[in-house]
Amino acid sequence: MINDLWYKNAAIYCLSVATYMDANGDGVGDFQGLMRRLDYLQGLGITALWLMPFQPSPCKDDGYDVADYYGVDPRYGTLGDFVEFTRGCEQRGMRVLIDLVVNHTSNEHPWFKEACRDPKSKYRDWYVWSAKKPKNADSGVVFPGVQKSTWSYDKTAKAYYFHRFYDFQPDLNTANPDVQAEILKIMGFWLQLGVSGFRMDAVPFVISNKGAEVTKPAEQYDMLRAFSEFLTWRKGEAIILAEANVLPDKDLKYFGDSGERLQMMFNFEVNQHLFFAVASGDSRPLVKAINDTKPRPATAQWGQFLRNHDELDLGRLSKKQRETVFAAFGPDPDMQLYQRGIRRRLAPMLKGDRRRLELAYSLMITLPGTPVIRYGDEIAMGDDLRLPERNCARTVMQWSAEPNAGFTKSDKPVMPVISDGPYGFQHVNVAAQRRDPNSLLNWMERIIRMRKEVPEIGWGDFSFLPSGTPQVLAMRYAWRNNSVLCVHNLSSEPQEIYLSMADEDEANCTLVNLLSEDHTHPEKNGKHRILFEPYGYRWFRICGLDYLLKRSAS
Ligand code: NOJ
Repeated sequence: MINDLWYKNAAIYCLSVATYMDANGDGVGDFQGLMRRLDYLQGLGITALWLMPFQPSPCKDDGYDVADYYGVDPRYGTLGDFVEFTRGCEQRGMRVLIDLVVNHTSNEHPWFKEACRDPKSKYRDWYVWSAKKPKNADSGVVFPGVQKSTWSYDKTAKAYYFHRFYDFQPDLNTANPDVQAEILKIMGFWLQLGVSGFRMDAVPFVISNKGAEVTKPAEQYDMLRAFSEFLTWRKGEAIILAEANVLPDKDLKYFGDSGERLQMMFNFEVNQHLFFAVASGDSRPLVKAINDTKPRPATAQWGQFLRNHDELDLGRLSKKQRETVFAAFGPDPDMQLYQRGIRRRLAPMLKGDRRRLELAYSLMITLPGTPVIRYGDEIAMGDDLRLPERNCARTVMQWSAEPNAGFTKSDKPVMPVISDGPYGFQHVNVAAQRRDPNSLLNWMERIIRMRKEVPEIGWGDFSFLPSGTPQVLAMRYAWRNNSVLCVHNLSSEPQEIYLSMADEDEANCTLVNLLSEDHTHPEKNGKHRILFEPYGYRWFRICGLDYLLKRSAS
């Protein structure tokens, strides 16, 4: 097995330059500001950053409407600043992934403007057109309730254009070889400037066939292989982390049977069922989701996460399961979005309950894959439901109790600062949590450090051990003759469980607690008796005699 797949045991942190740190005092976060925070991120144990779009953009969809793929929006800095930033990350052992948004451009992109203006221009065929409004124009919208159609009329072009997302995001005709060549050129450009890969936006739509005549979109998987080959030719370590919210029976199509397509995908299937497990205390649907997403090539990896910058999409759950999650974490209609999800941040969903926050993070971080952490979650930031749609969970990073949370010296921050209630920056901020050894921030640092010291999770094979109750989830990971056990009590009640090791060689092993001194030895019947507090969790190394002898000698 190749040992050098850095993404197998990484800790990824997602942030938006615009809302992270403003150095020049204009109210908008920038690369200079972000650079001042690299030591903070390194200290937290982060090994890779995922930057949300920072290219020039009208910013009608938080930068996911790109107007120039080869630049930095002047509000955030210059290409020179970007290279200083990637260099700063490299010096600190952190890799950089950037968003690659090539399903669509902004309608202000010069390609689209030219395509509209001149039907003979080469750019006309870079987009998807129809003389008449297609019959199915109003189906397949991604943002129901906000987006009306997937086809809109452009007066200059005198034709309808296709847009899977908002009408200001015309879809690129990704079947056009020139568009495909341009996508590679964009990737090559940023690789040259120091990135180690891309979080690729909307992958199923990028590779789908598009057009007025298409009734059942089909994926063109070969495109993924072409992207992947190009990346590795240019830079061996480069990867694609795909946003592809697909059913588990398609996972291998996206990864490729021998890993020749995508290196990483976010595990949306597990994400939704994880929230159901935390809401209901029942681990069974989560176990199924983890098993359903088990098959993957040896080089492929899941990105596991709790919340991201979008709504928590619960579309895969049954109606009843979804209602359970809504009732627990987003009961008001205003907390819900697009008829399928919850738009809040993690901490308010869990009512700021530290025990549950730790449980949710410990569980996510020990799932098969690589954890992806959203900025602000390390200090339990809240949301501002007065902001529209997904913006409520995109407020500025809360650094200190200084005005505007220490994010900017300007009195006009790019996004409002959460300044009242229990999540206000006066109470929830990095500076205060740094000084408090028991803060969530310091817990997060310790748990990330421990996760990196348990490569069995990122690299190994897993199995479930029967815990005797669906409220307690016990997972064993094995890799290179080492094994660990991660056990989580999802319920609000204390639990007493008896665990037998599945593997005969491990029958007499001690379970060495990795997070405290509370180790366990098998009882006479060979079982380990483990007591859990409400929402308790344990990480154990399964240790035979050899290890214990060595330990007592040292
Ligand atoms: C997925 C992104 O995560 C989301 O924020 C964006 O609105 C759409 N893709 C369109 O780019």
